[in-house]
Amino acid sequence: MSARRVPRPSRPVPAPGQDLARDFRLHVAQTSTGPLGLAIVAARGAWITDASGRRYLDLLAGMGVANLGHGNRAVLRACAAQLRRHLHVMVYGEYVLETQVRLATRLSALAGPPFESCYFTNSGTEAIEGALKTARKFTGRSGLVGFDLGFHGDTFGALSVGGNPVYRDPFLPLLPGSRILPWQDVGALRTIDRTTAAVVIEPVQAEGGVRLADPAFLRALRDRCREVGALLVFDEVVTGLGRTGTLFGFQQSGVKPDLLVLAKALGGGLPLGAFLGSRRILGTLTRNPALAHVTTFGGHPLSCAAALAALNETVERDLPARAARSGALLLRGLESLAARHKAVRAVRGVGMLLALELASPRATRRFAAGCLERGLIVNWTLHRDTVIRLAPPLILSRAEITLALATMDAVLRDL
Ligand SMILES: Cc1ncc(COP(=O)(O)O)c(C=O)c1O
Repeated sequence: MSARRVPRPSRPVPAPGQDLARDFRLHVAQTSTGPLGLAIVAARGAWITDASGRRYLDLLAGMGVANLGHGNRAVLRACAAQLRRHLHVMVYGEYVLETQVRLATRLSALAGPPFESCYFTNSGTEAIEGALKTARKFTGRSGLVGFDLGFHGDTFGALSVGGNPVYRDPFLPLLPGSRILPWQDVGALRTIDRTTAAVVIEPVQAEGGVRLADPAFLRALRDRCREVGALLVFDEVVTGLGRTGTLFGFQQSGVKPDLLVLAKALGGGLPLGAFLGSRRILGTLTRNPALAHVTTFGGHPLSCAAALAALNETVERDLPARAARSGALLLRGLESLAARHKAVRAVRGVGMLLALELASPRATRRFAAGCLERGLIVNWTLHRDTVIRLAPPLILSRAEITLALATMDAVLRDL
């Protein structure tokens, strides 16, 4: 089009970030009463750039999504190649889609037995939902069990095994037959019985304040589920794909669930969730009736292309080992902050999933705001407003770790 034929805009084109902030508040449904509100224009590696050109070091990685950092080249190349081939072509897993099949095959091989079969979804909560339905149908039972402060997503099924009344109560009644057990109470496991279809647990509770499940508790839970024939479901939406220092969180305790749920980092930045199990268990979705649980977009070829590239990068660059090393360094730094600043009550974590527990919700909010002012993105967990959770990209460099710790030190000094 020649320059003369370009229509004149009826009003001045807003500078990036100008009208956007207003329209964001007016037209994007708000779930947070105090959104961070950064107008994002770019994200590369561990850094995010806003519309004013300011750069922020991202210690959240979109809540544990950007394990490889933002804009990983291999992931972008794989997406570009898939874009040229095809996007969505058919619902309900009717066609053989190369990236989907290759991803399922690779995940099964890496997770090992019994995870032979993989059902893809669009998100973590849908993967939990699918796992719960699979367990109910496979066992012919209705009981669903979750744990205090667990978080599995916000659909009705996932919420029914979520362990925080603050988020459950406004949506009651939830699924009949669902119950919440106390965290790490071996005695309470006796209440899991022959009416229980599934027990859902995060090996490390992320939104619950980065609480690590004791391997002995997980073993007792595994034994009880086996004894009564209930399916054990590990929600590895956060702990999967290298974040805890092994490719899957279950590899730390050696306790294998019947169903393994993945999402977040799985899609390499695109929406994707999955649950894996034996062919015998997942086969329940094929019969009585056929098409017992289906999804139009779950396992989208573009998401699977990104996921396959992200998984290959994670394995080839041994990012789980890197997460273990960098996480240990970060944790040592946090321990030293705790020794110097009274406001820090505790630090804990595993791999690149770490927590800084502060004295009060007010101190926690001021800490997060102070970090943001100094160019560091952190946030508190959904179920514990005194816990700052760090879930940075696994590729964080030593220099970035040093910068993050120095910034937090400065914020704590001013708190
Ligand atoms: C442990 C866990 N499970 C499930 C979910 C739900 O995943 P999604 O937000 O993709 O539905 C989340 C989300 O934060 C999560 O942290």
